[in-house]
Amino acid sequence: MSITRTQVGVIGGGPAGLLLSQLLHLKGISSVVLERQSRDYVLARIRAGVLEQGTVGLLHEAGVGARLDRESQTHEGFDIAFSGRRHRIDMAGLTGGGVVTVYGQTEVTRDLYEARDAMSGVVIEEADNVTPHNVESDAPYLTYEKNDGIHRVDCDFIVGCDGFHGVSRSAIPELVLKTFERVYPIGWLGILSKTPPISHENLYVRHDRGFALCSQRSSILSRYYVQCAVDEDPDEWPDERFWEELKARLPEDAAASIITGPLVEKSVAPLRSFVVEPMRYGRLFLAGDAAHIVPPTGAKGLNLAASDIHYLSQGLIHFYDRGDEQGLTNYSKIALRRVWKAERFSWWMTQLLHRLPEHGAFDRRIQESELEYLFSSKAAMTALAENYIGLPYE
Ligand code: APR
Ligand code: PHB
Repeated sequence: MSITRTQVGVIGGGPAGLLLSQLLHLKGISSVVLERQSRDYVLARIRAGVLEQGTVGLLHEAGVGARLDRESQTHEGFDIAFSGRRHRIDMAGLTGGGVVTVYGQTEVTRDLYEARDAMSGVVIEEADNVTPHNVESDAPYLTYEKNDGIHRVDCDFIVGCDGFHGVSRSAIPELVLKTFERVYPIGWLGILSKTPPISHENLYVRHDRGFALCSQRSSILSRYYVQCAVDEDPDEWPDERFWEELKARLPEDAAASIITGPLVEKSVAPLRSFVVEPMRYGRLFLAGDAAHIVPPTGAKGLNLAASDIHYLSQGLIHFYDRGDEQGLTNYSKIALRRVWKAERFSWWMTQLLHRLPEHGAFDRRIQESELEYLFSSKAAMTALAENYIGLPYE
């Protein structure tokens, strides 16, 4: 068995794990990232890329903002369409200049991998059966299997950045871990097409046939979604069927102007709200999707991973720099305060825009009234805008 010694052992080489490892490295704190999959597999994932300014700031702090600055787009607002009408949420005007940055999560992850490589960061891919041990002690360690051997990583702290399906949550005793969950009985059928997006900004649609979203990855790569059944089979959706259904849900001007083309990616994602408390147990911390999941409606997943990593990296840096444990002690409480506000917003936006099976006639009228009120009230639109651009970090 090989034994490695590091300060922070990280489970998961997605955005959360890589960002943490990079931020710690820049402050002279060593880490080892253990990723179950290959890098190519991780980078093949198609994920949303609506970045809050806090996330953009953190990526610059991590030294991975250059390509983002060159290739990203800035959105000062977005549209919501319902009942055949289309309304714009002027985020910048309503929040004194607040905007979001559009840059695919795949590109964020790619930039982080390249930064880790450039600094000879230790990211071990295809690490099987990663297991946390002794998390209640001050000498925790990780074991994993690779190349037919078992390996051990001795560390001071373990951080579970291993996503919703990871292993780290199970290291917290069931009597300690509290789980909060809402599973929505619907999904999102998402596609990529090498076509120009219908507009520079995003368009969210509430329609009797179901929710739709028009987004993009660049000026020549569009991302579209239509609400579907949770068990929808993407193979039942040839290109023509997808475009017809999307156009049936779009307002007339968008349906008339959309440029269709071959679909280059097609998949169904489930919708879930999920939080575990606490996000710390002994020397084990949870961050990102390992601790919480939001429905994609508010585009908060990556941004919550970023704010978790902001709080946790600061706590670890203060611990190693000056023996101050306050940040680590307060991590779970502070991170969860921001997590729950984003969970609320994502749940609210999902209830507002989707046709949910449990919704009766009364619920549909309430939805319509909520949208009518939203667009008649500057205060209501401002509340939506300030949540969408991202609430401030504590
Ligand atoms: N051992 C090692 N690695 C694991 C294990 C395990 N047992 N289980 C999962 N992983 C890896 C996954 O392969 C993945 O690369 O952990 C990583 C977790 O990455 P994400 O799921 O992307 O989660 P996170 O880094 O928290 O980023 C959150 O990603 O899923 C999106 O919508 C989400 O945008 C949000 C962002
Ligand atoms: C995306 O571009 O994939 C996207 C954009 C906004 C969302 C969700 C997904 O709310």
